[in-house]
Amino acid sequence: MAPSLPTTSRKRMQILWCDSKDSFNSLAADHVLAAHLRKPDLTIALPTGRTPLGLYSVLRSKPVAFNRVRWFNLDEYVGLSATDGTSYAQFLRMHLLDDLGVPDTNIRLIRGDAADIQAECRAYDEAIARAEGLDLAILGLGANGHIAFNEPGSGWHQTTHVVRLTELTRAANAQEGQYVPPCGITMGIGTLSGAREILLLVSGQSKADALQALLQGRPDLMWPVTSLLGHPRLTVIADGRLRPG
Ligand code: GLP
Repeated sequence: MAPSLPTTSRKRMQILWCDSKDSFNSLAADHVLAAHLRKPDLTIALPTGRTPLGLYSVLRSKPVAFNRVRWFNLDEYVGLSATDGTSYAQFLRMHLLDDLGVPDTNIRLIRGDAADIQAECRAYDEAIARAEGLDLAILGLGANGHIAFNEPGSGWHQTTHVVRLTELTRAANAQEGQYVPPCGITMGIGTLSGAREILLLVSGQSKADALQALLQGRPDLMWPVTSLLGHPRLTVIADGRLRPG
């Protein structure tokens, strides 16, 4: 059973509906920039996927020094090295980090090709703990409600762990027919819920059911995104076309 939440939990969630891609991306960027202004050495967990591309493009265009930010990624494919074109590490380097001029010492990305993947999970949790936890977790949303690679039915107290991906997720992530590995390594919902602030980005018609599950305000293990409902600082930036009724 999913944990129950106080009935007030939904009231803590701030939802911002956007009627254009530009407003979606600039609102998301403003949110990140404001967090950065409050704490220039904040820790940020980054998502991959199509949804954050516009945000990354806006951030790249800003004359802001992000060199004190400590960067983590949410997830990675098991077996892929950071130089593999399908890896999330490569994606984040290409779409954001390389252009920001961040020192490598401030970037810790999951090593999908680690020889001992369980040891990598532990090392990653330790790195997050050494950074005193996440200040801001930026999340995308899967059509089945997954956040990072926490698929439906995942526990809500887990830290970094290995997951078998659903065929739905693998198919959604296979752009231009490229091979998508069967397993991922992901920050757990326990880690994500521990972030001091969460920014959830929801874009695309395929996310309508998952967003609806969140808006219903009822925690449900089969919709991992509903694990965020009790979070004290959750902001959702959503495509206006997904607005109910
Ligand atoms: C992948 C990632 C998720 C991401 C999701 C949505 O499964 N592991 O972190 O949220 O894709 O991707 P998109 O934004 O392309 O819809």
